[in-house]
Amino acid sequence: MLVSRPRGAAAPPLPLALLLLAAWAAASGQLHYSVPEEAKHGTFVGRVAQDLGLELAELVPRLFRVASRSRGDLLEVNLQNGILFVNSRIDREELCGRSAECGIHLEVMVDRPLQVFHVEVEVRDVNDNPPVFSVTEQKLSIPESRVIDSRFPLEGASDADVGDNAMLTYKLSPNEFFILDIINKKDKGKFPALVLRKLLDREENHQFRLLLTATDGGKPELTGSVSLWILVLDVNDNAPVFDRSVYEVKMYENPPNQTLVIWLNASDADEGINKEMTYSFSPLIPSSIRSKFLMNERTGEIRVNDGIDFEVSDTYEIHVDVTDKGNPSMVGHCTVLVEILDENDNSPEVFVTSLSLPVREDAQVGTVIALISVSDRDSGANGQVTCTLTPHVPFKLVSTFKNYYSLVLDSALDRESVSAYELVVTARDGGSPPLWASASVSVEVADVNDNAPAFAQPEYTVFVKENNPPGCHIFTLSARDADAQENARVSYSLVERRVGERAVSSYVSVHAESGKVYALQPLDREELELLQFQVSARDAGFPPLGSNVTLQVFVLDENDNAPRLLLPPGAGGAGGALSELVPRSVGAGHVVAKVRAVDADAGYNAWLSYELQAAAGGARGAFRVALYTGEVSTTRALDEADAPRQRLLVLVKDHGEPALAATATVLLSLVESGQALKASSRASAGAAGAEAALLDVNVYLIVAICAVSSLLVLTLLLYTALRCSAPPAGGACGPAKPTLVCPSAAGSWSSSQQRRQRVCSGEGPPKADLMAFSPSLPPCPVPDVEEQTIGGEHSGKEALRAEPRTSHVGGRHPTA
Ligand SMILES: *[C@@H]1O[C@H](CO)[C@@H](O)[C@H](O)[C@H]1NC(C)=O
Ligand SMILES: *[C@@H]1O[C@H](CO)[C@@H](O)[C@H](O)[C@H]1NC(C)=O
Repeated sequence: MLVSRPRGAAAPPLPLALLLLAAWAAASGQLHYSVPEEAKHGTFVGRVAQDLGLELAELVPRLFRVASRSRGDLLEVNLQNGILFVNSRIDREELCGRSAECGIHLEVMVDRPLQVFHVEVEVRDVNDNPPVFSVTEQKLSIPESRVIDSRFPLEGASDADVGDNAMLTYKLSPNEFFILDIINKKDKGKFPALVLRKLLDREENHQFRLLLTATDGGKPELTGSVSLWILVLDVNDNAPVFDRSVYEVKMYENPPNQTLVIWLNASDADEGINKEMTYSFSPLIPSSIRSKFLMNERTGEIRVNDGIDFEVSDTYEIHVDVTDKGNPSMVGHCTVLVEILDENDNSPEVFVTSLSLPVREDAQVGTVIALISVSDRDSGANGQVTCTLTPHVPFKLVSTFKNYYSLVLDSALDRESVSAYELVVTARDGGSPPLWASASVSVEVADVNDNAPAFAQPEYTVFVKENNPPGCHIFTLSARDADAQENARVSYSLVERRVGERAVSSYVSVHAESGKVYALQPLDREELELLQFQVSARDAGFPPLGSNVTLQVFVLDENDNAPRLLLPPGAGGAGGALSELVPRSVGAGHVVAKVRAVDADAGYNAWLSYELQAAAGGARGAFRVALYTGEVSTTRALDEADAPRQRLLVLVKDHGEPALAATATVLLSLVESGQALKASSRASAGAAGAEAALLDVNVYLIVAICAVSSLLVLTLLLYTALRCSAPPAGGACGPAKPTLVCPSAAGSWSSSQQRRQRVCSGEGPPKADLMAFSPSLPPCPVPDVEEQTIGGEHSGKEALRAEPRTSHVGGRHPTA
């Protein structure tokens, strides 16, 4: 392209341009051309010869030449046609750098005449340079903590071109964190800067790679780019964290020290020192908890430091802080909930809280005696307590409320059988193995007057010899009362009644305290054979209880009555003579009279024997008296030699010890037969009544003795069986022991102590120490009374005759 025009003006039409050029040239002697840079060799620049008004032909002769102060070889003039052309590559940027104006100044000289022309060739810019960054990669370090809108200047690109070709625009690869801002510089340049649009987080994106592209304004445009490597720097913006805010740990109580509770692992998203952590207990936690646990600051292990007791606390809330070493440091928190599990390490406890003791033996069933409470510091089954009571007692436990029991009476009490109970309340928990504790409760049973005094027998029999001294102690009564103290203090009293004319209290008295029974006056068997009365025993309880016992006092006979003669009415006289008429004709063995006598005593003392003492008047042995009947009979036939009046003395004697006697006088008148018949009929008429009465009595006696004998046998058997070891009987005057006695209307018998013992021990044949009491009647006139059997082994004769000394009632022997 050939352009020739004045500088600063649009290219005018050629004639005008030439005109102007000439004028300008004339004025300044200057030509002005323009050529783009990078034009090819030979590119036309201007017809410089013509423009200077030089003939082509004269160019060579006039030594037309072009000189340039610099780079003269870039443009060349063809001397043939006078055209200025591009000789070698012109680089505007090389020639002028970054100056906006760039021209090549040529001096055109011709000689003959020497003329110097100035030609100015403007080198026009071409967009031949892309924007260029000084480095291929820009590295930026941005702390993650930078706030939004923070700016980070970038190094801009440079473009060697000028003008529009060097007008750069920048573009950033799309991303969410940064936008581009263009900062205009004072020198009209501009540079890009990154503006933070979104907070950075190193922990999320620790680096970015962005592309910054610069585009120039040339046509066509050229671009250049640089890679931006953005490193996000760590800031201690992350607190250490635990993966949970609450950790729950369960452990049994009583762990050994140093037991691991939990190993905490906090993490910190930061880097380096910002993630180095130390663990500690929060300052909030009380020292009571702090002392129980140990924290390893470095590893985060929490271990047991001191006894952990469920009963002290069943949970621990440990607040833990973890602090990193950044500056400023950040703290993370967590809570460790340590739940302590119960172990059965506490025994139950038993408390007996209230006692109403002693308990009256008449207390109602259901009476509360004690309140019992149990407790166990453990929980759950380990703390569940069951209470048991000693078995087989009349008490029971009634649960009134959880862990509260009443000890109540379950069945009736009787102090007399059990006066105190040692109860053991055992509390056992439900742990495994279970623990237990016990408490003992002594329950004393208080006496109530529920037992009357009791005598061993309902009836006592005592034998007392008659004619005892007044005030004689005859028996001791003893009633037992099973109660205690006052309730068992027995006092005795006589139950008053009448005995015949008199009150029983005139015979006997009972000592209130000792129970001793005294005979107040001498007793007379002939007046009172059996004294029966009741003694009442009362205790001192409230109300008092009492019982009665019957005492039978048999009065034993003593030989205190002499035989008494029975004289027919009219016999008259205190001397007591029996008169009989005896016919002289009677033969031997004829009963002529009968002496009758009675003895008020009993037994041997009443058993009479008769003997002829002396016959006055010369009877010459004509009469004798039957030993037991008292019959006076002839021993031979009477004759004339016998005196008509015979006086016989008959001694009537009992068998007492000593024997008492009476003397009967029998007067016999020997008469002729007629006289005697008359007298005898009269006498027999009188005697018949008495004889019949005596016979009756004898029948009774026999029946009585037989009855007594059979009773004796029967009783001996019973006695042997039942009363083998009964205590010995008392003496006649003195405390008597009860003895089995069978009284009867006709008589009494007993076995002596000796006899009984022999029977019991079975040694040898028993001696004849049996005794029969006969009624106070004259001996039986029947001759064979002597042969009567009254004992099992011995004949009555033997019994009656043998050893009168031993023939006394049982109980006669003083107690050993
Ligand atoms: C902490 O790390 C230790 C060791 O790896 C591990 O035994 C323990 O269970 C971890 N603690 C927690 C609470 O995860
Ligand atoms: C004892 O005898 C008396 C008088 O007979 C009587 O009042 C009382 O009730 C009797 N006591 C007993 C316990 O039988």
